[in-house]
Amino acid sequence: MTFTVAIDGPAAAGKGTISKAVAMHFGFAHLDTGLLYRAVGAKVLAGADRLIAAQQLDPKDLEGDQLRTPQVAQAASEVAVDPQVRAALTDFQRSFATRPGGAVLDGRDIGTVICPQADVKLFVTASPECRAMRRFKELSDKGMSLTYDSVLADVRKRDERDRSRDTAPLIPAPDAVLIDTTDMAIDDAVARAVAVISRVSETH
Ligand code: DC
Repeated sequence: MTFTVAIDGPAAAGKGTISKAVAMHFGFAHLDTGLLYRAVGAKVLAGADRLIAAQQLDPKDLEGDQLRTPQVAQAASEVAVDPQVRAALTDFQRSFATRPGGAVLDGRDIGTVICPQADVKLFVTASPECRAMRRFKELSDKGMSLTYDSVLADVRKRDERDRSRDTAPLIPAPDAVLIDTTDMAIDDAVARAVAVISRVSETH
């Protein structure tokens, strides 16, 4: 049995938390596709060619807290503009999506480009201020010293680049269910996502 859940949305909207919880709830495998772009971005910061980095990406490149820094996030957003980089990462994501037992993929273009046939598509969003505050708390808790204003500026810059690029821009698929987490507790957002997926999976 294959069952694909596509979860897209801007940075720090809650996609990661929702995806992990959904994967756990249904016993699906989970791929955070942002990590693929972050791993390529990190290699570019270290001097690599972005296309070669994307073509030679190894699953063990996806591990480690150093991929979570704002610098790597910006580098990821920059390499993600390149259609050749995106193309080099497509097959891996598509085969992950169709693995037996079900899969959840979260990113920016899963419901629109990677898996337009996904069984369920969610678009998770929240106001930029709310997302910046969550990301600020998360990074501060990890011991990084930064200001809320710098995180908000980063979030806005990345949103703008991710939304305006020509290839696979961040945009909800026409058939995606929207979840706005601005005024929602994370547990409620997870419950909402689980309810939407349960409804579809019961008819399969
Ligand atoms: O989800 P994230 O914040 O880890 O993603 C980092 C960057 O990677 C994001 O700003 C844009 C890019 N990205 C993308 O273009 N397509 C995806 N499916 C996932 C991430």
